[in-house]
Amino acid sequence: MQLLQRSLVPVLLLLFIACGNTGNESTAPSDTRWTLTGFQKNGTANPILSATDTLTFDCPLQKTRVKWAEKDVFNPAAIVRNDTLFLLFRAEDRIGRFAGTSRIGLAWSLDGIRFTAHPQPVLYPAEDSFNKLEWEGGCEDPRVVQDEKGTYYMTYTAYDGDKARLMVASSPDLYHWTKHGSAFAHASNPKYAGGWSKSGAVVTQWKNGVQTAVRVAGQYWMYWGDQNIWAATSDDLIRWEPVLYRTGEPRATDLRGIARELPELKTVFGPRKGSFDSDLVEPGPPAILTDQGILLLYNSRNIPSIGDSSLAEGTYAAGQALMDSRHPDRLIARTTNYFIKPEKDYEIKGQVNHVCFIEGLVPYKGKWFLYYGTADSKIAVAARNHP
Ligand SMILES: *[C@@H]1O[C@H](CO)[C@@H](O)[C@H](O)[C@H]1NC(C)=O
Ligand SMILES: *[C@@H]1O[C@H](CO)[C@@H](O)[C@H](O)[C@H]1NC(C)=O
Repeated sequence: MQLLQRSLVPVLLLLFIACGNTGNESTAPSDTRWTLTGFQKNGTANPILSATDTLTFDCPLQKTRVKWAEKDVFNPAAIVRNDTLFLLFRAEDRIGRFAGTSRIGLAWSLDGIRFTAHPQPVLYPAEDSFNKLEWEGGCEDPRVVQDEKGTYYMTYTAYDGDKARLMVASSPDLYHWTKHGSAFAHASNPKYAGGWSKSGAVVTQWKNGVQTAVRVAGQYWMYWGDQNIWAATSDDLIRWEPVLYRTGEPRATDLRGIARELPELKTVFGPRKGSFDSDLVEPGPPAILTDQGILLLYNSRNIPSIGDSSLAEGTYAAGQALMDSRHPDRLIARTTNYFIKPEKDYEIKGQVNHVCFIEGLVPYKGKWFLYYGTADSKIAVAARNHP
């Protein structure tokens, strides 16, 4: 059993970030009561899911029977439906142009630890109008929320081998998914759908034991991106519009990724020199609206020479950030240190070394369960008591 708390002690020193031209509206909390801490990796149960050659299906594009989870399984979303905890996870086969096309599988559990996988993937490149964007890289990195009516919405990454694009799908039951295409397909500028985008974490709220997407200031919100973290808004959880800088608003000068072509995209926050998150930042699980603001657990990558010299090159460790609930594109506070980092064998060595990549967070049977991909190869869990 690993106590993650050790690395959190320095977090008690908060970094306060000026909030642009918000006047005095935003007051940074004076402590870290806003963070979700105390996660313990389950040392006996982890990794809870690994690659297997027992899962097969007929790939409509490969035109053959494929062992769709033979190479690696990782980067899981999590959601509770009725009394069951479901993971939607990324699985790779070993064949084709990249010796690894990604598809999204489903697994279920009654204790949050032991999972049974559905034999077939539930979302995958198929003979549809989206396979230009999804083949032959595949469908990657799901995050899932539900709306007030109980419809599920998944954001995922389509990868064509060249560019990653943030996509949306919906489902009544987690098994049957309808693809809706690029999250930005209907945005005001077609360049947003054409550019590199991924990792959509929708803002949610816990109410009466159910986590649902929630409107803030009249709209649904999502954090996205994998260099900086940007924001987007939507009326229907399907068609998203990136949040842009307002006239006169101070702009970030360190332009990264898609913002190099589209500098009007508002950076919510970016990497930090001298810190564990020195190279890139990327949303983790769906964000959570709390009475102190919007809590986003986020992934980050490190370059030791400009960042945290105690973490290996390319280490993905995760931190936490708080945004203003009246203005979700404004950062209020951010932890100075990570709360989870790679340290076990299977977190250090794999398809990509030194990775703990968080994507699923749910309360279930009295605990918060945090699910993460390890070294882009396996799936593990950390838990803490709830609330
Ligand atoms: C770890 O998993 C086991 C099941 O393998 C479970 O009994 C135990 O309660 C878990 N421990 C924690 C700290 O979550
Ligand atoms: C599961 O929940 C859905 C909606 O939340 C409900 O309509 C359905 O009847 C439930 N199914 C079972 C088997 O309890």
